[in-house]
Amino acid sequence: MKLAIVGNGAIGNLLALKCHNQQQEFCLVTRTQQAFTLVATDIFKHIHNIQIQPLEINQLNKADIIILPVKAYQIADSVAELKPHLRAEQTLVLLHNGMGVIEAVKALLPNNPIIAATTSHAAYKPNATTLFETGLGICHLGYIARGQNSPPQRCNNTNRDALLTSLLAPCCWHANIEQALWDKLAINAVINPLTALHQIKNGQLAQPQYHSIIEDICLETANVMTACGFSAEPSILVDRVKHVIETTSVNYSSMYQDITHKRQSEILFINGYICQQAQILGINVPANQNLLKCITALEAHY
Ligand code: PAF
Repeated sequence: MKLAIVGNGAIGNLLALKCHNQQQEFCLVTRTQQAFTLVATDIFKHIHNIQIQPLEINQLNKADIIILPVKAYQIADSVAELKPHLRAEQTLVLLHNGMGVIEAVKALLPNNPIIAATTSHAAYKPNATTLFETGLGICHLGYIARGQNSPPQRCNNTNRDALLTSLLAPCCWHANIEQALWDKLAINAVINPLTALHQIKNGQLAQPQYHSIIEDICLETANVMTACGFSAEPSILVDRVKHVIETTSVNYSSMYQDITHKRQSEILFINGYICQQAQILGINVPANQNLLKCITALEAHY
């Protein structure tokens, strides 16, 4: 079964490392089209030299599964660009932080099986050819569309799901992936903007001075989640956030990395999405609004 990973970001490279370790055939769909060696250091400090073979976009129809570990704001444009090269049987896996893009993808690809996934695995990418695996997390995934056509023999659902299960391990499949996406959004709404604003590693959020802001963000997010029909208990959200802070303590969050490198962040799809839903529902979310304002102001000064 052939797997294509779109982009050359930290999570995409982490998947390349997993493929390499599991001897799974894969290709990277990148803009540069140049073969290169990715030097990846895994969580056990083992160094792997991985030969990356870029796949031209017009060869994409050869892949059975296409994983898109790209930023939330890039998804709609990426899918529109890939669309002319896709067959209806090919499975698309969306793997990003934040919410608010699924409907656009479903509209663009009404016939393909689509899986939404979110991960708390952590990686740091100091440059285009170097990767450090910095935290062992968990991946949540589930189908948001089953596809119109029956899959071909060589790539049936069972093989496809088994491959993703081993590649994204430890992972958890959900019948209702939206609940899991909200649960992860609640974690990103705390860790990402706070680490970016205070320029700290995830683990530093365990310090007592961050406790009350963490509680405020979780309470607001739980209120919005409940009003949207999802289950959320503020104290459980706080516990989950603390768990991720602990398991990814040495990691620089993706938003920290975006802000440090003066790149666009995913704030509009994280705290911005919470604020947008809150406004529709008439719920006050001052802590989320403040974080949205602060990160947007930082981005405006690049
Ligand atoms: O965006 C990130 O950095 C990650 O989703 C997480 C889990 C917050 C770890 O840094």
